[in-house]
Amino acid sequence: MSCEKILLVDDEAGQRELLAGFLTSHGYQVAEADNGQAALDAYLEIFAPLAIVDMKMPGMSGVELLEKLRGINPFIQVIMLTAFGSVESAVSAMRTGAYDYLTKPVEDLDELLLVLEKAAAQNRLVVDNRVMSERLDDYFPDNELVGESPAIQKVKEMISLVAPRDATVLITGPSGTGKELVARAIHSLSPRADKRLVAINCAAFPETLLESELFGHEKGAFTGADRTRQGRFELAHGGTFFLDEIGEMPLTMQVKLLRVLEERSVERLGSVKEIKLDIRLIAATNRDVDKMIKDGSLREDLYYRLNVVNVHLPPLTERAGDILLLAEKFVEKYARKIGKNIKGLDSSAAATLTAYHWPGNVRELENVIERAIILTRAEVLTVADFAGLASSAPSTAMGQIRPIAEVECEHIEFCLNRLGWNIGTTAEKLGIHRNTLRAKIKEYGLTRPF
Ligand SMILES: Nc1ncnc2c1ncn2[C@@H]1O[C@H](COP(=O)(O)OP(=O)(O)OP(=O)(O)O)[C@@H](O)[C@H]1O
Ligand SMILES: [Mg+2]
Repeated sequence: MSCEKILLVDDEAGQRELLAGFLTSHGYQVAEADNGQAALDAYLEIFAPLAIVDMKMPGMSGVELLEKLRGINPFIQVIMLTAFGSVESAVSAMRTGAYDYLTKPVEDLDELLLVLEKAAAQNRLVVDNRVMSERLDDYFPDNELVGESPAIQKVKEMISLVAPRDATVLITGPSGTGKELVARAIHSLSPRADKRLVAINCAAFPETLLESELFGHEKGAFTGADRTRQGRFELAHGGTFFLDEIGEMPLTMQVKLLRVLEERSVERLGSVKEIKLDIRLIAATNRDVDKMIKDGSLREDLYYRLNVVNVHLPPLTERAGDILLLAEKFVEKYARKIGKNIKGLDSSAAATLTAYHWPGNVRELENVIERAIILTRAEVLTVADFAGLASSAPSTAMGQIRPIAEVECEHIEFCLNRLGWNIGTTAEKLGIHRNTLRAKIKEYGLTRPF
C-alpha cells in the first residue's frame, strides 16, 4: 500500500471523484482540484511528487498547468488524462514532459496503480540524486524571513504593507542582513508575483556593460553588438525590477535611471524606439545613503524617486534575540542538504554564537553553520564546532560576560604556570586549601605543560 501524496485535477466531477476514491482506498493522500488555478493553490499545500492532470480543461489547459507545476517542483511526475482516441493530445502531452498518459475514462485501475508506482519511483530517483538535491535548493529558494525581534517584526510589517502596492522601495542595511531576501519577499507577496523578478547587481558590471545590460541594444549599436538584445528592464515588464547595490551605480547611469523612472519607458542602445515599461522597482544598498548624497555619489533627485518607502535592516547584533532562531533554521537547512543527522546546538554553542559580534551579519552566521555541519562528526554542535569564532570574539576587556568557571579555570592555570606548578604555594596564594586546588585541577582537566 502506498502512502504517496498526489494532486488530482479534472473538471469532470464524476471521473475525479471516482479516481480520488479509488486512490484514497489504496493509501494515497489525494488533493483534488477542478481547474488549473485551484490546482496550483492546492499544490502549494500538498507539495506532492505526483499529479494526475486532465489535458482539456476550461481556463488553464493541462499542459499549461504541467509547466506551472514544474516551475514549483521540477521533479514532479505528471500523468496526463487524454480523451479516448486522441492520439494527437497524447503525443503533445508526452512532448511537454508528462511521465505518461492514460485515456479517459480510466477503466483499468490496475494499470493506473502501476503507472503511479513507476512514476513515484522515477521521482525518488531524481530527488535522491545528490546533484539534483543541490539544485533543488535553487528551485526552492527559502524565502522565509526568520526572526521575532522587534526589528524584524517591523520589517515584516512593512513588507506586508508595501507589497500589495506598486510603491518603489529602497532597502538599506549592512552587508548580509537580508536585503535581497526582503526584495524577493516583497515581490512574491505582490500582485506581480506570477511575473518575473529581474535583478541586477550594479557592482557586478563595468559602466558600459551595465548600460547595455539594463537597456539592451540593437544589432550594430557598438562594436561586438552582433545581434539585437533585450535589456533587463524590458525583461522585467509586468514584473518587478530589483536594482541591487545601487550605491555602486555610476552617476551617468543614475541620470539614465532617473529618466526611466520618470517616463516609464526605455530605448535600446542604438535605437530611438520607445519601449513602454510596466515595472515595480525595488532598490537596495549597503552604503550610508546620507553620506553618499553629501559626497555626491548618489543623486538626490534619484534618491527621492527610489526612497518612496524605506525598509531598513539593522545589523544582526541589534537583533541578538534572533541569532539562535536563525542558527537553528540554518542547522536544519544544511543538515538536510548535506544529509547528516544533526539535532541542534548545545548550550555552549548557543552561548558562543550569541556572544559573537557578526560583522558579516546573517550571511556570516549561515556560512559558519554550514561549515560546522560539514565538519562535525557529532549529532549536536558544541562550542568546539565554532572554535574560529571564539578567537575573533571581542575580548573580555570589551565587556563580554563570561561564566565564572571559565574565568576561574584560566586564572588557576595562569597561577600554576607562574609558580611552577607548586601546589602548596599556588593554593596559599589563591587562598584556598591544597585539596580544593587539586580537585579544581582535576575538574578543569589542567595539565602541567612542562
Ligand atoms: N531574516 C532572515 N531569515 C532567514 N535567512 C536570512 C535572513 N536574513 C538573511 N538571510 C540569509 O542570509 C543570506 C544573506 O542575505 P541577503 O543576500 O538577502 O543579504 P544582503 O543584505 O542582500 O547582503 P549584501 O548587502 O551582502 O548583498 C541569504 O542566504 C539569506 O537567505
Ligand atoms: Mg544583496
